Amino acid sequence: MSYNINDKGYYGEFGGAFIPEMLYPNIEELRQNYLKITAEESFQEEFHQLLKDYVGRPSPLYFAKRLSEKYNTKIYLKREDLNHTGAHKVNNTIGQILLAQRLGKTRIIAETGAGQHGVATATVCALMGIECVVYMGEVDIARQAPNVARMKMLGAKVVPALSGSRTLKDATNEAMRDWINNPVDTHYIVGSVVGPHPYPDMVARFQAVVSEEIKKQLLEKEGTENPDYLIACVGGGSNAAGTYYHYLDDTDVNIIAVEAAGKGIDTGESAATSVLGKEGIIHGSKTLLMQTGDGQITEPYSISAGLDYPGVGPMHANLYKTGRAEFISITDDEAMTAGLELSQLEGIIPAIETSHALAVFEHKTFKTEDIIVLNLSGRGDKDLQNYIEYFKL
Ligand SMILES: Cc1ncc(COP(=O)(O)O)c(C=O)c1O
Repeated sequence: MSYNINDKGYYGEFGGAFIPEMLYPNIEELRQNYLKITAEESFQEEFHQLLKDYVGRPSPLYFAKRLSEKYNTKIYLKREDLNHTGAHKVNNTIGQILLAQRLGKTRIIAETGAGQHGVATATVCALMGIECVVYMGEVDIARQAPNVARMKMLGAKVVPALSGSRTLKDATNEAMRDWINNPVDTHYIVGSVVGPHPYPDMVARFQAVVSEEIKKQLLEKEGTENPDYLIACVGGGSNAAGTYYHYLDDTDVNIIAVEAAGKGIDTGESAATSVLGKEGIIHGSKTLLMQTGDGQITEPYSISAGLDYPGVGPMHANLYKTGRAEFISITDDEAMTAGLELSQLEGIIPAIETSHALAVFEHKTFKTEDIIVLNLSGRGDKDLQNYIEYFKL
């Protein structure tokens, strides 16, 4: 049994492409071309050259000595926060802009929650000289203001999404609506392993560079490619997918996925999709999602804009359902505390999304000899105001 995607676009029972008829030509064009184009030598060369010289890869695998001492175990941090633009998101946007160019597209649209994907998209559009429109929920525009300013500086147009909870789900709806209206010239750079097939697989493949590097780096540092545990936070699930990708079928490696419990699982203000979700369809994919008894999507809540999403990518729904990954939910308060702790123990200010993953160490006891790799998905510059207000700094 494989935990990776099958040739029909499914992870177990999750995935597929449940799309309105008007989106069919766009999705079909992608489905027929993404593997062919990304396998071309010229594509691979340009992709890896840009990851190296523009993004700054490989990102370091850093042994966090003081954090390890505190929790009496061996913790490595995969430093995606050191990438150009400050998060893992750029690995995917570099891949998709190269694909869009080869498909002859002249306009790019994207959705964003925390703004990191929006910034990464605006960045590659500036790099390639392509028009860029980013949809972002009105609530997220307010709480991630530094990233809104960056997108504008990079030449992108930021369009507020005003419906629903005015967060990531609503921004995604707006982007899909735009794509239906502009099917020929526009490519939609989806920012996580969500959406109709082939997006979850395509984004996972671009992010897989993370686990490819972890294997090499861990072999160098520990004499083994395999850690005992991999830990990553899950919004839609792209940094987690990249972290797990080359380990999915290696069941000696334990996988921990961390979701946002918001104010608490039972408070009605949460984004812990695996625990609270049921099977359903969101943004073109069959997956787990938070919904009411009659199938209406529940508005999610998290202090972290990047985890504030009522669904999860189909890869992760399958990892949850099969028990391959352990899912842990972390509240706003636990995450904020873990973010402050990393700042003061290691001199690294993490994104609030990443702080959720870091809070696992207070939840679960590891053995002294365990080797743990935690994906430090992004830096906290965008969240400074939130940290300052929360801790009254
Ligand atoms: C730093 C960071 N980590 C994690 C996420 C969550 O996204 P994903 O689950 O796709 O990695 C985001 C989303 O914006 C982010 O900015």
